Formats: sequence, C-alpha cells, structure tokens
Amino acid sequence: MANARNAAGQTNDETILVLDFGSQYTQLLAQRARENQTYCEIVPCSITASEAAAYNPIGLILSGGPSSVYDDGAPQIDPDLYKLGVPILGVCYGMQLTCRLFGATVERASAREYGAAEITVADEGEKSPLFEGMSKRSQAWMSHGDQATELGDGFVVLASTPTCPNAAVMHKSIPFYGVQFHPEVTHTTEGSRLLSNFIVKICHSSQNWTAKNFVESSIEKIRETVGKERVICGLSGGVDSAVVAALVSRAVGSQLTCICVDNGMMRKNEIANVAKVFRENFDVNLVVADAEERFLTLLAGVDDPQEKRKIIGKTFVDVFSEEAKKIDGAKFLAQGTIYPDVIESGGKSGGQAATIKFHHNVGGLPEELEFSLLEPLRELFKGDVRRVGLELGLPEELVWRHPFPGPGLAVRCLGAVTKEALDCLREADAIVVDEIVAAGLYRETSQAFAVLLPVRSVGVMGDARTYENTVVVRSVSTIDFMTAEWSRLPYDVLARISSRIVNEVSGVNRVVYDISSKPPATIEWE
Ligand code: XMP
Repeated sequence: MANARNAAGQTNDETILVLDFGSQYTQLLAQRARENQTYCEIVPCSITASEAAAYNPIGLILSGGPSSVYDDGAPQIDPDLYKLGVPILGVCYGMQLTCRLFGATVERASAREYGAAEITVADEGEKSPLFEGMSKRSQAWMSHGDQATELGDGFVVLASTPTCPNAAVMHKSIPFYGVQFHPEVTHTTEGSRLLSNFIVKICHSSQNWTAKNFVESSIEKIRETVGKERVICGLSGGVDSAVVAALVSRAVGSQLTCICVDNGMMRKNEIANVAKVFRENFDVNLVVADAEERFLTLLAGVDDPQEKRKIIGKTFVDVFSEEAKKIDGAKFLAQGTIYPDVIESGGKSGGQAATIKFHHNVGGLPEELEFSLLEPLRELFKGDVRRVGLELGLPEELVWRHPFPGPGLAVRCLGAVTKEALDCLREADAIVVDEIVAAGLYRETSQAFAVLLPVRSVGVMGDARTYENTVVVRSVSTIDFMTAEWSRLPYDVLARISSRIVNEVSGVNRVVYDISSKPPATIEWE
C-alpha cells in the first residue's frame, strides 16, 4: 500500500501514528518516537481505520487525555483500528478506552492520582518485550482519575503500583499494550526504554529516520520543487531559520538569497555571528538590511508592549518586502515553520491539542509578494531541527541558542525603547548568557536573559552616590513554554552575574533575580 504524504509532503516507509486524545504530553510521545529514529505523526483521535491505514503505520500510540471514558462526549476510537493488525500502545486514557472496549471495567478512583509511584514489573511483564531490559522496580509518573479495575479474561497484567494493580497490561489475542502511567515524561525513569521497546522490539522499526537521511531526502525534494528558480529566506539568528537556510543552501546553493533584517533589537553580535557562519560555510547570497534607525524612529516614545510588537512586526514586513523585491525573479520563500506550529495552528495534524496554544509568531508573510512557500522543517520538532542543524555542520552555539522573541530586546527593555537603553540591555544580556554558559548550565535552562527596568534606585559606588537603572535576571526551565519554572541557579553564578553587570554596564547599579514561575507570570516581562 502506498504511504500517505506526511506534514512536509514527503513519504516515509515506517510511520508511527500518535492518536491525540487531548493530553498535554501528546507531543512528547511523538518526540520520543523521533528520538528512536522513527518517523511519527500526531493525528486526531477521530481518525478512521481506513484513514490510518493510508499511512501504512507500523504502530499506533493512543495518548492520554483529560476526559473520563464515561463523560458525555468523551473522545472515542474507531474500533476497526484494532483490526489493522499493527501493535497499539494505549497510554492512560488510551489504555482505559481500550480496556473498556474489550470488556474491562474502568472505575473512577476516589481521588485523582498525581505524582510519582513505584512500579513493579509482574512475572508476565518480565517475559514481555515491552519491559525488556527494565528494572523490576522503578519510578513511574501517574496522572489519572480513572483506572481499569476488573480486566476480565482478555488481558494479562504486566506491572502494578501500590494503588494501581493494573498499571500495565497486554491483550491476549490482539497486539495491544496499555500503561496507566506516562512513559513519555522524564519522571518515569525508565519510560524512554519502555517506548523504545514498543517502537523497536514490538513495532519492529528499522530506525532509519535519521538526521542524515532527512537531510538527503529533503535536499532531493527541494531541488525537485525549486528547479532553477530563485529562493529567498529570512535569516534571524534563531535555530529554525538558520537550519532552513543551511538546508536550502545545500540543495540549491547560490539560487538562495538570505535576508537578515537588523532591527536594532537583536542580541549582542547576533547578526554578525550568523552572517559569519553563513558566509564562511555555505554557498549563499546574504543581504544584511541595516534598519536600526528606521525601527527606532518608529518606536520612539512608544511604551505599550502590544503597540511595540505591532510596529516591529509591520516594519519587519516592510523592510523584508523591500529587500525581497530587489531580488529579481525570486519565486520561493523558505520559512522555518516547524511541526508544533503546524499542530498548534490547527494544521493538517491538528487534533485535540490543536486549540491549546495561541502561538506568537505573528508578522507573517507580506501577501502581495506572492511567493510559493518552501517549508522543509514542517515535520520536525525542535529536537529534530537541532539534530538536522548539527548534521548540516552548523555550530553548536547556534544550534542550541535559546529562543528569542520576534520583537527582540524591545519587549525586554521596559517602557519606551531608546538606542542607549538597548545597548545597555545588550551588554547585560550578554553577561547573563556568558556566565550561564561558563557554569555549564546553558542547556539545562530553556531561556535565560536580562530585562532592563526604567526604574532607578539609589546606590553607592566608591564614595559616590548613584541613581541608576535596574536589571532583572530571568532564567526559566520549560518543556513547551506554556508553563515554566524559574531556574534554581547557584548563588555563586548569580553573584558573578550581578557583580559583572554593575561593574561592566554603565547606567546599572542594581541587579535582581526574577523568581516567578509561569503561570502566573509570563516568561517575558512585556
Ligand atoms: P511568554 O512571555 O508568553 O513567552 O511566557 C512564551 C515564549 O514565547 C516567546 N515570545 C514571543 N515570541 N514574538 C515571538 O516570536 C513575540 O511577540 C513573543 N512574546 C513572547 C517568549 O520568548 C517565550 O519563548
């Protein structure tokens, strides 16, 4: 049977489908599959057996979800999916739904179980490939209100916890495995192993979905699509745009022109560094549009955060369009759209999770330019993008760079933005990042930066009184940027950051550390 085309319009030989029942962890399940070099797509839980069969999947994973199987309107599943003959792993809700369908009793527990539990693998579990190589006892992460109680004749218990006797099960006659806990979260200490067992030992993935293969097939596809036409690409210094530019450049060389818009709101040396990487390593035409003054003039006196965003978004489109029009006959616009953008904007794979996040990357395309879009990263998660970036030879610092908002330092320079304030913030920000890198904590933190407050306070330096601004240090850890925890940076790292900022950045005499999580605070200050 022919394979369906995936999110990037390509075909894959071996696909795992994750049916999304609305769990906040659905994307993690798909990412874990990718980490096992296996292509995986998230599809709505309402997918029919014949639609699923068109992907020719080697396995299905049914995600968790917030509903109870007894709720009115609770998501159901096409029972014919179990006749496809491919292995199915049900996680939490996905397990309960299947157990109920095959005669088990699912009951509401008196209290929701949330947190870590010790899981013990049963004798039958030890014989099962699902638990191969795993410890007899380990920690699993629970988050459920219901659980399967009476299993009936169809199922065998593979593992249990003190409060959940049927924590992992398998069906006797269909290739179904169910786990009540969440193997996709890191709190389940051997969860990666369990998922890997399912994908490799049970679904028999040949693990050929690698960054190298992705690069090779994408290059071929881009060449086929682009032919002899010219392509333009906005290059910002962020990971996604850099990887797109690198990939397209490898495919069509100097048919590609990259446009960097310097809006004056970038991090220290950001444009210079990315331009250097591309000039030295890739065959591309690179245009740096120095538009700092234009942005600053339009932003003068504007202190409302949303207004700042609007001005920056619109001006970016104006400058980019002007530069693009100078590139004769450019037909394609390459963009760094990645898989979570596709899912979150309710795109092809938008399932239950589609409405969770409103994503920020506004600004978009200048419509009158009428380019054909080239989005070669549409099927990739951030982790995949990084692996592809490394495969293409991009430097680690660029590939692992923390995300940076489109409006840049403007939303970290509170109140009206001026060149002086931005320069001051740029220096302070570089110190924060420098020290976190030096302490070996950059990859442990998801976003670390400085914010400049237009708040002056009294200080003393030498014998003189000072009356200067305040810098906030912000560092968070997060998986999805929807919620975030402030980083417990060691005191000595904070001390070095503070001392360097007040000594090296003129106009700042006080440094504070932001200890707010999201929610209720947001990651950015504006
Ligand atoms: P918040 O502040 O909403 O940020 O907790 C969540 C993530 O989104 C980024 N962010 C933006 N990205 N344009 C962007 O491209 C924006 O206007 C914008 N505002 C916030 C923020 O840096 C964090 O990664």
